Formats: sequence, structure tokens, C-alpha cells
Amino acid sequence: MGGVIGAVWAQSADGVIGAGGALPWRVPEDMAHFQRLTTGATVLMGRATWQSLPPRYRPLPRRRNVVLTRDPAFAAEGAEVAHDLDTALDEAAALGDVWVCGGGQVYRAAMARTERLVVTDVDVHVEGDTTAPEIGPGWVLTSQEPCTGWAVSSAGPRYRVRTLERAPLA
Ligand SMILES: NC(=O)c1ccc[n+]([C@@H]2O[C@H](COP(=O)([O-])OP(=O)(O)OC[C@H]3O[C@@H](n4cnc5c(N)ncnc54)[C@H](OP(=O)(O)O)[C@@H]3O)[C@@H](O)[C@H]2O)c1
Repeated sequence: MGGVIGAVWAQSADGVIGAGGALPWRVPEDMAHFQRLTTGATVLMGRATWQSLPPRYRPLPRRRNVVLTRDPAFAAEGAEVAHDLDTALDEAAALGDVWVCGGGQVYRAAMARTERLVVTDVDVHVEGDTTAPEIGPGWVLTSQEPCTGWAVSSAGPRYRVRTLERAPLA
């Protein structure tokens, strides 16, 4: 039995997830949540997201880091490099849970294989160049934190975390 293939991201009220290669807000509580959720699992990310991490934060500690690229010469110190998404997901799921953690291209490419989404809504309006993938009708909300309303970050923005799972087939 393999692990769960999930995707985790944070998005603005308009669905923005990135601007100029960075997150266009600061919510330290979401960083802590991301750390808790993904520790011990494989984190799979696109080459651009890997390069957007400050060098001192990569590889993400206590996680198996896998970077997806089409460049056969690309090397990522402290991470494994993969060239085929399905193979990378299969190999990671055979080891345990795997979290797809960006960016926009890789979320979209992995959506069909994803069984769980953990989405932080950050209640801000920001300009950006990268957006979250569309969450189609085949998903059900299984939990929301807080249950109603919003939490307020120490850095200012309101935020909440939604978990969605694939709807059972009728
Ligand atoms: N808000 C959030 O939760 C969150 C999370 C993560 C990232 N982000 C943001 O997202 C932005 C980056 O996203 P992005 O869409 O520009 O890039 P990305 O998805 O991180 O990386 C794109 C790169 O991944 C490789 N790739 C993508 N699909 C592939 C496939 N099917 N097979 C092999 N390689 C593949 C290619 O690398 P090569 O070009 O090397 O071939 C491609 O250029 C940044 O602004 C970052 O801050 C936000």
C-alpha cells in the first residue's frame, strides 16, 4: 500500500500563488503548518520553485526533496532530480506520503494524480504572475481550520486552511 499523493499551497483571494518567483505575502503560521504537514514525507516541486527557495532553506529539512525538470544536466544539491512526473510520483508514493508543493506548472501537471488538497486561503488581494490550479467539481471539503471564519496571522492577513478530498464515485 502506497502513501497519499497530496498537493499543498497557499493562495490569495484571487487565486494568486506567486509573484516574481516569491510568495506575495508573509504568513509565518502558514510556513509552520507547511512544515508540520510535510515533515517526514517526500516534497515534489518544480525547478522554479526549488530555485525560489533561499539557499539556506533548501533542501527542506527532514523531507525527501525531489525537483522536477526537463533539463538532463540540472543538479540540485541535497535533492533528487526527476524528469518524469508520473515516475517520480509512483516512486515517492511507494515510499510513503508525497506532497506536491509547487509551483503553478507542477500543481497543474500533477492534479490528475492528486488525492488530497490542502489549501491555505490568504485573505489578501495581490498582483502576481502564478496562479493556483482550478479545483474542479470532483472534490469535497473534508475539513476547514478554523471551522468558521478566519484565523489572523501575527503578520496581519486573515487566513484559513481547507482540506479537500476526491469525491467518492457515485
Ligand atoms: N503559494 C504557494 O503555495 C506556492 C508554492 C510553491 C511555489 N509558489 C510560487 O510559484 C512560482 C513558481 O511556479 P512556476 O509555475 O513558475 O514554476 P514551477 O512549477 O515551480 O517549475 C516549473 C519548472 O518545473 C519543470 N517542470 C514542470 N512540469 C514538468 C514536467 N511535467 N516534467 C518535467 N519537468 C517539469 C520545468 O523545469 P525546467 O524548465 O528546468 O525544465 C519547469 O520550467 C513562484 O513564484 C513560487 O514562489 C507558490
